Amino acid sequence: MTIRLGVLISGSGSNLQAIIDARDIGALDAEIALVISNRDDAFGLTRARQHDIPALFVDRDGFASFREYNFAIRDALREHNVEWVVMAGYMRLLGREVLDAFPSHVLNLHPALLPSFPGASGIVDALDYGVKVTGVTVHFADEEFDEGPILAQEAVEVAEDDTLETLTSKIHEIEHRIYPKVLQLIAEDRVQIVGRKVKIRPAS
Ligand code: GRF
Repeated sequence: MTIRLGVLISGSGSNLQAIIDARDIGALDAEIALVISNRDDAFGLTRARQHDIPALFVDRDGFASFREYNFAIRDALREHNVEWVVMAGYMRLLGREVLDAFPSHVLNLHPALLPSFPGASGIVDALDYGVKVTGVTVHFADEEFDEGPILAQEAVEVAEDDTLETLTSKIHEIEHRIYPKVLQLIAEDRVQIVGRKVKIRPAS
């Protein structure tokens, strides 16, 4: 089954690129229907356009309220027949206007092992805390920041000589691998939410 994705970004879009690449090599059965950024200068918008993917800048400042801003995002996603909303470095809280329109169909990527180090600076926070292991989480999004049932996690050891730069690059390497994989599990209809847990069905 080909799933239609709407990808929300704020910056470089390297995870968007990983999703595009997985699609291109046939590892991900998905159509990227739309990319939305809340920043005009996000390089991810350029990546999308280079691949002929509709790309939209939605400016929070152009709307009187956070609610109206989120309605605009919701409407754009609907207009492009998006089925799954994929946050990939979208650095804002997503409003209930979008979450309610796509119930249990909104995913987020977090650069730490939730519930540790939620928030906008998961990599720095883990490094500063001195944990020996951190990692990446893919989870369903809800109205709380970085909560919601967990689809996948992968750990990485923090080496003695890791810097923010080296740890960030290890985390990105994992992200680029696991986000497309999780999306493919969804395309194969192998993901089921049971309470606050996610069950992954074995391949048939
Ligand atoms: C990723 O590390 C993601 O976990 C975090 O923001 C970063 C986005 O990177 N939420 P990119 O824009 O996909 O390159």
